[in-house]
Amino acid sequence: MDRVLFVTLSLVVFITPVTSSTSGLRSVTKAQILGFEWKNCGAPEAPAVLKTLTVSPDPISIPGDLQASASGTTSVELAAPLAVNVTLEKEVAGFWVKVPCVEEVGSCHYKDVCDLLTQLIPPGQDCPEPLHTYGLPCRCPFKAGSYSLPPSDFDLPVMDLPSWLTNGDYRVQGVLGSRDRELGCLKLSLSLRSD
Ligand SMILES: *[C@@H]1O[C@H](CO)[C@@H](O)[C@H](O)[C@H]1NC(C)=O
Repeated sequence: MDRVLFVTLSLVVFITPVTSSTSGLRSVTKAQILGFEWKNCGAPEAPAVLKTLTVSPDPISIPGDLQASASGTTSVELAAPLAVNVTLEKEVAGFWVKVPCVEEVGSCHYKDVCDLLTQLIPPGQDCPEPLHTYGLPCRCPFKAGSYSLPPSDFDLPVMDLPSWLTNGDYRVQGVLGSRDRELGCLKLSLSLRSD
């Protein structure tokens, strides 16, 4: 799987529950993600590029089942320190408003994603499925080359969402860099509907 994607998914799926304290969370029994779209936003010669990403169904239900496949390449090895700058925006009355970084979620700067990955998946531990099955790496360094995740099923659990993550249209940009060099950029957009 592409590192940019992996990092993005990690941030969304893993870091949110790990780093959020219970105070700013609201329990959500059911949520839906609609109209998921993505594109690269790096320079044409950016080393890390996501080639394909398909996610279904639309809408995605949480909790529920999600199918995803992805492929990407990097022409350089991705090694620590690997910084990611996330910009999260929400549409409010026709304007895109930047969501601040609160408890590691929102428009945050992560100085070293390698470090975060090592904390989440300690060395020696198998990578989570489906990465393990396909021999895909989950810790730095990620060697230069092509990576591909065949269509895989994910079981999305019941999640507590930050209380500011209200219904509406969102867009997220993730910029991956190392030592002041931009390595890749990915933009996602989606709508959230929850009760
Ligand atoms: C992230 O933002 C900081 C502050 O604006 C900047 O110094 C750094 O180069 C950025 N890193 C990436 C990967 O874009």
